[in-house]
Amino acid sequence: MTSIAAYVRTILSGNAPHDRFRAGEKGTFSPAAQRGLVLSEGKAGCVHCHTGFNFTDEGEDCS
Ligand code: HEC
Repeated sequence: MTSIAAYVRTILSGNAPHDRFRAGEKGTFSPAAQRGLVLSEGKAGCVHCHTGFNFTDEGEDCS
């Protein structure tokens, strides 16, 4: 593991509007954000690479 990869793994996202939406607090996530989420998980295919609460596959390169 590279140093930068080790560092990046220390950065955690939590309690963002998206996290609260996932936890069931519907009011925290705008209708536009909800449409974007559907798009990213569907047609746009972002979740192929951006998964989990940090939206990363934890890969060490960008290939
Ligand atoms: C084939 C894999 C792949 C797909 C599909 C993909 N991405 Fe990415 N994305 C990456 C990689 C690799 C990076 C650069 C490394 C990183 O920041 O995790 C990146 C970086 C990003 C960043 C910058 C992150 C930062 O920390 O600055 C954003 C925002 C982003 N992608 C959004 C999207 C969106 C929105 C979609 C869907 C439309 C998408 N990505 C689809 C692989 C992908």
